[in-house]
Amino acid sequence: MNSNLKFSVITLFPEMFLPLQNEGIIARAIKNQQVSLNTVFLRDFSDHPRKNVDKQPAGGGDGMVLRADIAEKALLSVLSPDAFVINLTPSGKIFDSNLAKTLAKKSHLILLCGRYAGFDHRLELEYADINISIGDFVLSGGELPAMCLIDSVTRFIPGVLGNEESALLDSFEDGLLEAPQYTHPEEFHGLSIPKVLLSGDHKKIKEFNRKEQLKVTARNRPDLILSKWDEFSKQEKIIIEKIWKSG
Ligand SMILES: C[S@@+](CC[C@H](N)C(=O)[O-])C[C@H]1O[C@@H](n2cnc3c(N)ncnc32)[C@H](O)[C@@H]1O
Repeated sequence: MNSNLKFSVITLFPEMFLPLQNEGIIARAIKNQQVSLNTVFLRDFSDHPRKNVDKQPAGGGDGMVLRADIAEKALLSVLSPDAFVINLTPSGKIFDSNLAKTLAKKSHLILLCGRYAGFDHRLELEYADINISIGDFVLSGGELPAMCLIDSVTRFIPGVLGNEESALLDSFEDGLLEAPQYTHPEEFHGLSIPKVLLSGDHKKIKEFNRKEQLKVTARNRPDLILSKWDEFSKQEKIIIEKIWKSG
């Protein structure tokens, strides 16, 4: 079977990706040829005697900027006609489950991992199909964001997750957070598993989990609730409003 999706990562720290390549669901997907993951070491494309890849920012200021010409050479070494180029940057569109699903349908994703003050802006203007941020905070490099993206996107490739890991009940699948989960032991520090979950009554369990889902989402992510407000039943709206009133 051919790989469904190829990830090419342009980075100054290729070894950071080894755990992803060697452990867990991504490693299994690579082994099963459902994805491939290769890293491109930015310094290999430097023409500088000490393999430098950065320079002072134009106009002055702190920090160093990654050179557009060197990054371009690295990018061109893996660019293919079907490639979709992602620039990881705090200034990008916020990554979410829907974007992960869209990206999972592509055949080749090239991820640009910045360091220092990031890449020269012209690289993004010339080559990026999208700028993506993983949240409103600044990390030291694009490698962790790239890993988050690779993991999340790979989970949406058909056949990657087994039944026991199915993404269908995960948070965000239906626009809400997942209901809390319980397993063994039945009693933990005086906290019991809700009785209905042990009743075997699937209809009641479904209703209970739906209520729990609404409660946890109303408490932690009112924005998600508001974006789906018209889809809730009268009964569900009462549950949500009760949570909000209780603070
Ligand atoms: C120290 S950051 C640069 C931050 C940049 N000067 C700014 O203020 O937006 C270095 C690199 O880390 C990556 N990075 C940091 N935070 C990120 C985030 N929230 N999402 C995606 N990439 C991020 C980007 O690739 C960025 O070029």
